Amino acid sequence: FEVTWDLSAAEKQGYDWFMRKEIYEQPQAVADTLLGRYNEDGSLKLDELHIPEAELRTIDKIIIVACGTAYYAGMVAKYAIEHWTRIACEVEIASEFRYRDPIITPRTLVVTLSQSGETADTLMAIRHAREQGAKVIAICNTNGATIPRESDAVIYTHAGPEIGVASTKGFLTQVAACYLLGLYLAQVRGTKFGDEIAAIMGELAATPPLIQRVLDEIEPIKQLAAKYAEQKSVLFLGRHVGYPVALEGALKLKEIAYLHAEGFPAGELKHGPIALVENQIPIFVVVPPQGRDQLHDKVTSNIQEVRARGAFTIVLAEDDDEEVIPYADFLFRLPKVSTLMQPLVATVPLQMFACELASLKGYDVDQPRNLAKSVTVE
Ligand code: G6P
Repeated sequence: FEVTWDLSAAEKQGYDWFMRKEIYEQPQAVADTLLGRYNEDGSLKLDELHIPEAELRTIDKIIIVACGTAYYAGMVAKYAIEHWTRIACEVEIASEFRYRDPIITPRTLVVTLSQSGETADTLMAIRHAREQGAKVIAICNTNGATIPRESDAVIYTHAGPEIGVASTKGFLTQVAACYLLGLYLAQVRGTKFGDEIAAIMGELAATPPLIQRVLDEIEPIKQLAAKYAEQKSVLFLGRHVGYPVALEGALKLKEIAYLHAEGFPAGELKHGPIALVENQIPIFVVVPPQGRDQLHDKVTSNIQEVRARGAFTIVLAEDDDEEVIPYADFLFRLPKVSTLMQPLVATVPLQMFACELASLKGYDVDQPRNLAKSVTVE
């Protein structure tokens, strides 16, 4: 009698892939990232941020630098940070940042997002920023990695080890950590009243069970993936924070299912991408919550437009959104949350779609071809 046991299977705790396990860990990962970082009254406490408040009040520009999925988390964060702090916030691909002579002063705050904390492009970008006198805050998932060591302060995302090359819980926890930072800056600078900050913090703290609900209802997404084993191209549309969610959904498909996938801001459709729409092409649409500006209605019109041209529309819309029903070939319900919280629930079905599709195609979901978990060369 011989006991054979495979360490990696054991660590997968019964899941077929680390990526799938990590998708399911997201409610906990987000909760752990928020834990201990706000007070009972809803005010923020980021003790680890060793930058004096007086200095944070002088900041006149924020630049977020990151690569890959972390860059898309940064794109989400920009909407929230500018809205809450009224500080201009740019988001830049780390490998581009350093080579274009960016305007950096001692009043610039550079925020860097990196799951591994070892990405060479990101590291070079923050070195450059610090040489120019900027303060650098790292949002990182790996204790003691190079990027946090070379930053002025670090907010760790407490996602636990992420093994799958395609980042999932890394993304959600980066968004959560950026939101904590944005709210903290709003608190320090007084751009939001305490009760407003408490209300937003309450929304953020309420997301883990909502992410869990999405996971509990994910089965139809898996069945949908089965339909697309032969698919060559998939499009994703979103607006506002739904736009980076669309980009992230497309990136997951490229990374692990090796298919051509593109995300677009829904408003740009008419300026080019609509020409790509052909019969039965699957188009995912992330629909903003109802009642925000007119974005909901505009995106609903976009669904109609692509469907009229033959697309198969896969619509992610909140509970009670009845308006999208006639135009959705496939409808996935999202819990009702505010616009800024929506990425935390809307990204999950897109991750699962990619995981399932890649798995069905027989690919190595955790170690896709040509990719590395942490890219330590420029
Ligand atoms: C690599 C990984 C991606 C990741 C990116 C940034 O390309 O394959 O999944 O998003 O690096 O990684 P970081 O560790 O800096 O977040």
